[in-house]
Amino acid sequence: MKISIQTRITKNDLLVLPFYEGKSPKPTQDEALQNQHHPDFEGKLSEQVMIYQKDKISPRILLIGLGPQDKETTETWRRAGGSLATQLKKSIQNITIIPPKENIEFVAAFAEGLLLKHYQYEEVFTDKKRKLTKIQNLSLIIQDKKIGNALKKQLDEIITTTEAVHAVRDMVNAPSNKMSPSLLAKKAQEIAKKSRHLTCKVYGETRLKKMKMGCLIGVGQGAQEETKFIVLEHKYKSKNKKPIVLVGKGICFDAGGINIKMRELPEMKFDMAGAATILGVFQILSKYKLPLHVIGLAPCAENMLGSKAVKPGDILTAYDGTTIEIKNTDAEGRLVLADAIAYAIKNYKPSSIIDVATLTGAAITALGYDISALVSNNNDLKKALKGAAQAADEKIWELPLDADYKDKIKGQIADLDNYSAEVSAGTIMGGAFLEHFTKQTPWAHIDMGGSAWAKEEKPHIPKGATGRMVRTLWKFLKNS
Ligand code: BES
Ligand code: MN
Ligand code: ZN
Repeated sequence: MKISIQTRITKNDLLVLPFYEGKSPKPTQDEALQNQHHPDFEGKLSEQVMIYQKDKISPRILLIGLGPQDKETTETWRRAGGSLATQLKKSIQNITIIPPKENIEFVAAFAEGLLLKHYQYEEVFTDKKRKLTKIQNLSLIIQDKKIGNALKKQLDEIITTTEAVHAVRDMVNAPSNKMSPSLLAKKAQEIAKKSRHLTCKVYGETRLKKMKMGCLIGVGQGAQEETKFIVLEHKYKSKNKKPIVLVGKGICFDAGGINIKMRELPEMKFDMAGAATILGVFQILSKYKLPLHVIGLAPCAENMLGSKAVKPGDILTAYDGTTIEIKNTDAEGRLVLADAIAYAIKNYKPSSIIDVATLTGAAITALGYDISALVSNNNDLKKALKGAAQAADEKIWELPLDADYKDKIKGQIADLDNYSAEVSAGTIMGGAFLEHFTKQTPWAHIDMGGSAWAKEEKPHIPKGATGRMVRTLWKFLKNS
């Protein structure tokens, strides 16, 4: 796809005119409309009216509502842009947009909404007709040269970040027989090859046993597929002496283990969304290097059942030596993350650790499908993440790391239990368990149990894997 900034309209397949609710069009928009009247169009957010015209430079004109101008945000513009995606067909590949206001952030958000929404998982379609049509040219009509140049720069970055979001969705939507730990590790290696500032190491089971990654090995021991631990590293003129470590849960299929899940099993291919998110962030870093030292860790395994699987009551020893009684084999995410976090502390002494994980179904009960949960031991880190999430239009909400709840991770016969039935605050308990391994290092945990998968499509997010948190983490790194 090509994005261009122009001052005049050239031949296109579709001209898009976004309008505020109840406002008359600005002169350039009015000229394109040629004084046609559309009394039914009110400009309500994402409202659409298509006008067809013969032998014109724009054979179609689409009016899109932006809602009331006094309530506009990048979010409303992004959603309106997303609603445009549903209009795209084979015959529409060259799109021109005339925004009602030449504001860099708003116009960029509109284009971003379109690109984010225009996605479908189609790696396994054999029928080509079911594939989405690619946008060839996206032109924006902007009169102010300075704004036009700045907008172009921003849009180039948006193309890169959106491509990463799409790549993450592809990985998460892929079924587990097409996205095993080994295949995920291969993807990570391909990403690392794209930049000389990136390196990737992958540890298999033999090494992991020697390294004493007892939890990760334990979770994966019931599966035929080999467990892998992915270590990505970005280093370029780093201004930070201690690295920032990003960790992502990579359970390529979560059957629950011996505590087998009773429902929603097909969706449990999504349980590596955290790991995919880390790969997505490094894909962006392979194109936009930042003066930072960043480590990405992805412990990857399948949580299966069978005679080799870890059993309820078994005791595992984590990388840092902590012993853990497996009270429930379905609480496997915290186990693989515990090893990764301990590995980060011991080998990198990081300035901060952020983990992203589809850790609990309780996150859905607490916050639904649109808001990710945040649990953290550090105010500065919380603040930075909340800011990044807001800028990315990806909602996160903090849950407290309550001291009384924290006590409940203590084990009866081992150091810790991986699950305690008496505390109903599942998402907080997941966080409390992880916090044990952070050893006071600034740390934040983002639970995407609800937000990584869209059961229904959203204005700017298609059904299925959402790719959320890639853009939040990217913005966080940019501001670090
Ligand atoms: N991957 C799941 C979390 C999950 C389940 C997310 C369903 C979205 C929908 C995780 O491994 C899990 O099974 N968590 C358990 C934890 C419990 C046993 C403490 C859960 O949430 O039920
Ligand atoms: Mn589970
Ligand atoms: Zn899981």
